[in-house]
Amino acid sequence: MHRSIKGQSSWPVLSRTRILVVGLGLIGGSLASALVSRRVCQEVLAWDQDEQSLVLAKERGIIDRSVTSLEEGISLADIVVLAVPVLAMSSTVEQLAALDLAGKVITDVGSSKKDVVAAARDHLGHVLEGFVPGHPIAGSEKSGVTAARADLYEAHKVIVTPLPGNASGASRLVREMWERVGATVLEMDVVHHDEVLARTSHLPHLLAFSLVDTLAGDQDNQEIFRYAAGGFRDFTRIAASDPIMWHDVFVANRDAVLSALDEFRSGLDQMREAVDKGDSQSMLGIITRAKSAREHFSRILENQSYLRTMSSNSISYTARAGGPVTGTLRVPGDKSISHRSIMLGALANGVTEVTGFLEGEDALATLQAFRDMGVVIEGPHDGKVTIYGVGLHGLQAPPGPLYLGNAGTAMRLMSGLMAAQSFDVTLTGDESLSGRPMNRVVKPLQKMGAVIETAEGGRPPLVIRGGQKLVGIDYDMPMASAQVKSCLLLAGLYAEGETSVKEPGITRDHTERMLTGLGYKLATNDGLVSLKGGGELAAVDRIEVPADISSSAFFLVAASISQGSELLLTHVGINPTRTGVLDILRLMGADITLENAREVGGEPVADIRVRSTQLKGIEIPEHLVPLAIDEFPVLFVAAACAEGETLLKGAEELRVKESDRIQSMADGLNALGVKAEALPDGMRVPGCTEQSVFSGGTVDSHGDHRIAMAFAVASLRCGGEIEIQDCANVATSFPNFVDLAHSVGLDLNETES
Ligand code: S3P
Repeated sequence: MHRSIKGQSSWPVLSRTRILVVGLGLIGGSLASALVSRRVCQEVLAWDQDEQSLVLAKERGIIDRSVTSLEEGISLADIVVLAVPVLAMSSTVEQLAALDLAGKVITDVGSSKKDVVAAARDHLGHVLEGFVPGHPIAGSEKSGVTAARADLYEAHKVIVTPLPGNASGASRLVREMWERVGATVLEMDVVHHDEVLARTSHLPHLLAFSLVDTLAGDQDNQEIFRYAAGGFRDFTRIAASDPIMWHDVFVANRDAVLSALDEFRSGLDQMREAVDKGDSQSMLGIITRAKSAREHFSRILENQSYLRTMSSNSISYTARAGGPVTGTLRVPGDKSISHRSIMLGALANGVTEVTGFLEGEDALATLQAFRDMGVVIEGPHDGKVTIYGVGLHGLQAPPGPLYLGNAGTAMRLMSGLMAAQSFDVTLTGDESLSGRPMNRVVKPLQKMGAVIETAEGGRPPLVIRGGQKLVGIDYDMPMASAQVKSCLLLAGLYAEGETSVKEPGITRDHTERMLTGLGYKLATNDGLVSLKGGGELAAVDRIEVPADISSSAFFLVAASISQGSELLLTHVGINPTRTGVLDILRLMGADITLENAREVGGEPVADIRVRSTQLKGIEIPEHLVPLAIDEFPVLFVAAACAEGETLLKGAEELRVKESDRIQSMADGLNALGVKAEALPDGMRVPGCTEQSVFSGGTVDSHGDHRIAMAFAVASLRCGGEIEIQDCANVATSFPNFVDLAHSVGLDLNETES
């Protein structure tokens, strides 16, 4: 027992407490059993109105001891868990008020919190420091002591809704108790808890009860049980849950349940109308959105439009000197073209099929964003996506902010499109994207008449106001950026008059090519691109996305630096605005040949053969910088394996990519014993012709996919083992990198922690 000195409690150690469970019939029995079997505390006591339950629980070893009254139990216990039905919770709290609760920790397991918290405030005001409400998100449709399961909470979540006056020691004990029975503990405020649970738990139960009752209530429908298949069984399992408990939940959480039900009814009406009218597009819209939401279930709980599908666990790579690098490889689809295929396919009139689509996090974020704006998109299945275009004016307001993850291209290009819509949109992203500069698109868009608010320093989130009239501008871009150019051209589709963009250096022209492919007229002349607003986009049967030259670059360098290698990379996009990496490697002496060059859907494609050779250091010509902007991390690795020094200047843009790529690479190279020197706008990399260019060591990729992959390639010339940290974002551009790297001879392993 612990002491309370002048109202200041010192809370006991969990292992020395007595825990009283009040009510064994619902999930209290399982908690008692878990506490006993895991020896979490000194003794587990129980009180239940039903004496028989207490006898049974003792016989079965679910509890250590039963008490004969609530009063007796309270006097013995340090922690009290109220596990009575929700509607009995307030009266139980009222009963407690008459007892000496000083210094005791009280918690509950009710699945709606408003009433019990109000009762606690009314009756336990004097000891509120010890009352910490909780709610385990676990249960089963079975009730009664005999249904108690000691493992019920393992790998389940428990939400605690601490109150302002709670003592930290009391909250700690409640958290620890749940953690010790295997649960993960989350915190939420009371109102939010009740709203979330109304949607995620109470409404589905209500629907299951109602559906079974409706079908079973009609004599003619009795047959359904005879023929009921998986669908009926899966949808209605929870209709066998405890009636009193669920009645109580619907009463206690009335308002939130009704508002969830009303939302559901309007969704159901929409589905009814679509079925009634044979409106396939609306039906498919609902079904495909629901399918993808079901597949990314956690998104719904987070109430976000899109959430990364990767676990939030950190992934690291360990790599050793493998090689030689041999075989034939097709890397995933081009990221830039994949983003654009969704955006322009969605805005075209008609249905467009995309093949070779990159199923990486970034492009999937764009896909989900357009789904959230009402566009029906089937897939992706093995790189195939079918987009039911809604026309330039057919997007609808999304249900919430559009979460774009790590995808800078999605945010910058979409800001141009969103600036011209009739509705407001908020664009958000992950930590890295939230630190990236957006004024480069926001400022010129504002000149066109857009209304956009940013966070401090022109960073995301971007709040873009709808209903603005845009006018075309002539824009002289201060930096060579395809994202800025594309953003303005996309806004220009909606603007009055002509929008023209002048670029200081050549940048990738996928937007221009795809617009042309979809029948939109634009003029290009010596670094100047212009188009007039007010046209239309016509769907094409197929957009074929070539393999990404930026992803291929890792293997171009891998095969070049690993002795005895010969690799064929197939179907690679070799758009001349992207082939700076080939030019630079060839200047360094690489043995690269193009085979089977062809044009596919407006983009040039070839198979690329690369053989190992001794590279030499060069001064990288500045005009090649924008043409190889994403490839420098791995080019620095190539430079370290070259004979003589390599110097890059004029690449300050690298400082504002997914990480500061100059700093991340210089730090990583130095950690592996290569004395690279970071320059404000580039890097000086000393070359080395020995087999072991890199020592073993640990490098931090700073969550930047290209830094992680570049150091994986470095391992081919490493004397020891390289550990590369924070690699989860490789999935943004190259989801199967580790497997493909393995298949051609790299010695690379992934660990998740
Ligand atoms: C991209 C343009 C480039 C590139 C990015 C993709 C695009 O960015 O680095 O990975 O798809 O338009 P900038 O426009 O910022 O140079």
